[in-house]
Amino acid sequence: MNGDRRGTVVVLGSPAELAQEAAQRITHLAQAAIDAMGVFRIALSGGTTPRATHEALASEPFRSQINWSKVEVFWSDDRAVPPDDPESNYRMAVETLLSNVPIPEQSIYRMPTDRPDLAAAAAEYEATIRRVFGEPSGIPVFDVMILGLGDDGHTASLFPHSRQLHSGERLVVDGDPPLPGTAGPSPSVPRLTFTPRLINAARERIFLVEGAQKAEPVRNVLYGPWQPEVWPAQFITGGATLPLWLIDEAAASLLPDRR
Ligand code: 6PG
Repeated sequence: MNGDRRGTVVVLGSPAELAQEAAQRITHLAQAAIDAMGVFRIALSGGTTPRATHEALASEPFRSQINWSKVEVFWSDDRAVPPDDPESNYRMAVETLLSNVPIPEQSIYRMPTDRPDLAAAAAEYEATIRRVFGEPSGIPVFDVMILGLGDDGHTASLFPHSRQLHSGERLVVDGDPPLPGTAGPSPSVPRLTFTPRLINAARERIFLVEGAQKAEPVRNVLYGPWQPEVWPAQFITGGATLPLWLIDEAAASLLPDRR
């Protein structure tokens, strides 16, 4: 399926096919980045959808196709909980991917979500990214940004009408939780999140979206009126390469040419 001006949509028959497609694409991007630059820098998302893609990357054939010693992992957002908390995006990634591949420990850059001062934690993570990328003043460019879509149209922890939608020059900010009952299973805890400025600088932005409950937000974000305060994933668009939306049939069910 050809994309809309806001993104390029690829519809997969099932969540399993979505995970395989995502793992295939991430593997190819990793190989190209490592061949060209000697390093592959990826920012992972949280929630539940990425689990299957992580597990695919940690399994053959993809696991042995990636030179994990050249991979550096970051998070585009995480919940303000300890790293061993069941709600931690870091913990989910360790369980489903990082504990199962030979990535050096020092190449895993966890968001400091267990710091009492979240504003200071955001500034610290932003400084870490600038240091690792060697980018003291410009915008660090990730090779791949993995993103999800919440029931309320959020991505990362950019929730509707939240203060974190307006973050000026910042790359990483502390954020308010979603309003209770609006963002599906996303817990109502404070967050650390990348800003649209950092996300949109990435070479590739890949949304992973599945399930019938995402059909309406997918349609609204990609084809609805331009209202990024209401549907914050609309902030993630433009660029030399439009964001890629890998979505399953259920999440695609309300798209214009699928009814
Ligand atoms: C988070 C995620 C968030 C997630 C969406 C979709 O911390 O919750 O980063 O942006 O991607 O809420 O989550 P599901 O994949 O669980 O539907």
